[in-house]
Amino acid sequence: MALKLNKSYLSAFLSAEDMSGIAAQTETAARVLHEKSGLGNDFLGWLTLPTDYDKDEFARIQAAAEKIQKTADVLIVIGIGGSYLGARAAIEFLKSPFYNNMKKDTPDIYYVGNNISPTYLNEVLSICESRDLAVNVISKSGTTTEPALAFRIFKKLLEDRYGKAGAKERIYCTTDKARGTLKNLADAEGYESFVIPDDVGGRFSVLTAVGLLPIAAAGCDIAKLMAGAKAAQDAYTAPFADNDCYQYAALRNIFYRKGKEVEMLVSYDPSFAMMNEWYKQLFGESEGKDNKGLFPSSAIFSTDLHSMGQYIQEGKRILMETVVDIKKPKQDLFLEPDAENADGLNFLTNQNMSIVNRRALEGTILAHTEGGVPNIVLELEDTSEESLGWLIYFFEKACAVSGYLLGVNPFNQPGVESYKKNMFALLGKPGYEDMKVALETKLQ
Ligand code: PA5
Repeated sequence: MALKLNKSYLSAFLSAEDMSGIAAQTETAARVLHEKSGLGNDFLGWLTLPTDYDKDEFARIQAAAEKIQKTADVLIVIGIGGSYLGARAAIEFLKSPFYNNMKKDTPDIYYVGNNISPTYLNEVLSICESRDLAVNVISKSGTTTEPALAFRIFKKLLEDRYGKAGAKERIYCTTDKARGTLKNLADAEGYESFVIPDDVGGRFSVLTAVGLLPIAAAGCDIAKLMAGAKAAQDAYTAPFADNDCYQYAALRNIFYRKGKEVEMLVSYDPSFAMMNEWYKQLFGESEGKDNKGLFPSSAIFSTDLHSMGQYIQEGKRILMETVVDIKKPKQDLFLEPDAENADGLNFLTNQNMSIVNRRALEGTILAHTEGGVPNIVLELEDTSEESLGWLIYFFEKACAVSGYLLGVNPFNQPGVESYKKNMFALLGKPGYEDMKVALETKLQ
């Protein structure tokens, strides 16, 4: 097992009855999921993706990644939300948050189309000057404003630089198999295209071409990533008592019912920071509806102990923490002896820095638990592709089961439309004329 749920710090917060009381409900939620009889049941393709993914397309993804590596110094990944977070999270976790600054034979990667800041876009454009480019534009709907804006700009840049035929060789589209503006454009221009399956929603799509093409282009082994996810798929069909994924979903709901309002996902390695962002979207969009849901938040410790530590220890008691404990860090560092010992740190001489980090983890769990914050611990074996694939599948399935336990449809996101409609109206998009007048009155 690449991942193990450690409940040993929960004794002050949890009774045996709490777990036995929710076991049957959790089994029912999982059965509804597998039988595809629950809310949002047309978006369950991710459940069996690690076994029944399109093998021909997978080979095309690997070939495209190799071509990108050979032809581009910079890969521009255009997408927002579920169409970019997973790829970035995986690359920064598997490679490094400093990926772009590392010595490597794979392209630098910049992510655009995930905001509307002209400053951000101009800065990336200036980084791209006189460097060979490839673009992977990712949008399931093919109509999302942020990536569409960015793609218009990068498409022109590539056409100006390489000509239309040259640009065609450097643009890769990941979108719906048949519908949408991006699909139409890709067909018209002859771009190489990859498919986001109909039954896989954005935030569950990292193990499709959405995540796999950028991840492979960064030099990560996507076959191992899928193998890890498959191992998790097999493991998490076990009954509740032997199923860490179901138990984690149950624990979240137990603490929610006991009054906790915020789950903080915590890691002690900065390479996990974008995984935190991916988790926040997964759980936030899946559960935050009908006036319900734990608010997903995150932290990197010990960094954030120096900013959020006070609140966590002594602020309003609405928090629970889920700590991802990476058992075997990618690297280690040893402190050398210093004859003067002016900093007083000689007691750590010849000590692994990973052990110092572990003591910080242990000490913090004990302190926060003492302070009334339940700490669930997820022990992740290492930072390999297999372990990450396992972890991704673990969170996806736990999120679905947790959403059903909460009584919501975990696979829609109706609330995301509100800001888009207001923005379109305020920008004067045709069809929004009445709304524009009403909104402008409110802004005065
Ligand atoms: O999870 C989701 O569905 C969203 O985050 C979408 O991925 C995001 O809004 C981007 O949508 P699209 O891929 O259609 O451009």
